[in-house]
Amino acid sequence: MSARYVPVGWNASKLVYDAILLIAVAIYIVVFLWLAPRYQHVTLPLDEYSARMAAFGTCAFFLLTAILCIGPAARLDRRFLPLVYNRRHFGVLTCAVALTHANAALDWYFSYSPLDPYVALLSGNTSFRQVSGFPFEAFGIFALAVLVLLAATSHDFWMSFLTPRAWKALHMVLYAGYLAVVLHVALGALQSARNPMLALVMTLCVLLVGSLHFAAGRRPARLAETQGEWIVAGPADTIPEGRAIVVPVAGAEPVAIFRADGKLSAVTNLCAHQNGPLGEGAVIDGCITCPWHGYQYRLADGCAPPPYTEKLVTFRLKLDGGTVLLDPRPNPPGTYVEPLRVA
Ligand code: HEM
Ligand code: FES
Repeated sequence: MSARYVPVGWNASKLVYDAILLIAVAIYIVVFLWLAPRYQHVTLPLDEYSARMAAFGTCAFFLLTAILCIGPAARLDRRFLPLVYNRRHFGVLTCAVALTHANAALDWYFSYSPLDPYVALLSGNTSFRQVSGFPFEAFGIFALAVLVLLAATSHDFWMSFLTPRAWKALHMVLYAGYLAVVLHVALGALQSARNPMLALVMTLCVLLVGSLHFAAGRRPARLAETQGEWIVAGPADTIPEGRAIVVPVAGAEPVAIFRADGKLSAVTNLCAHQNGPLGEGAVIDGCITCPWHGYQYRLADGCAPPPYTEKLVTFRLKLDGGTVLLDPRPNPPGTYVEPLRVA
């Protein structure tokens, strides 16, 4: 496939993914704003603005929590992988929901203010030295800025322009955004909350994000065994024909070892297009085929077939009895390595 910018088109699975997301958000908002109040018997129900703010604010927080859980969940269990492929749409929707929340907050605060709502928001409270009454909105503004930045740069064009590595590094700022939301709520809504529900649910969400990342981070460490300079990839007969196993490499990207026609070949697990997980793909028409958008690479040298120009880093393999050993030192992209015959 081409090294130049190639937009990834819409397909049926993306449409279904987006439809499910939109329906889930709509159900949440309708239940929160319309259904729940009908069955709630409280003397002082929330006013319309506060209810809208709480509905969209909590919805944005849950969406953000889900986005951060998808990556580690997919590393722990392949069944979550389809959620990874369209995660960017999740991010854009979260940004839209958070903007609606912020807009409701501005309506609520400043409907009667002679100042511009944004000026009033930034200048109204400067008690930065105290916990109670701290201008928690500042954290909300930071989190919103992060969401807008990531949504605006989510398009393929930016990935190609910035390079996948820099783009991925930029998206790590989402963790700072999440922390900002937690502080926004802890110093804001939780200071006056009489019901412990919000505190409880937020704590559970933060614990879920933390424990999934911890579990996913520990997983590769358990697998990396070595024999001298070589990494023990595992028994050759555990690699299914036409598929791959993914071998973690300490301090580097994982390596995918494919089996095709009874021979093994090893390439980086990262697709040259958008860092898609090649090891989740299959060998189709004699080429490694990325599961995300179908870019293809030859097994022996990691080169995309002509006229395309992408090249993957390749690796050497050897057999020790029935065990496959991997040399973790990468060859320059496109280097030919004779496939290792195992059957
Ligand atoms: C310009 C940006 C923002 C402003 C001005 C803002 C303002 C507010 C205000 C006034 C409250 C009510 C606090 C209270 O009840 O004492 C609130 C609550 C909340 N905000 Fe924000 N916010 C912003 C951005 C965000 C973002 C980006 C998120 C999440 C992604 C978020 C999530 C929440 C949540 C979960 C609550 C608690 C809702 C509840 O009462 O149950 N906010 N925000
Ligand atoms: S990431 Fe798009 S084809 Fe691999």
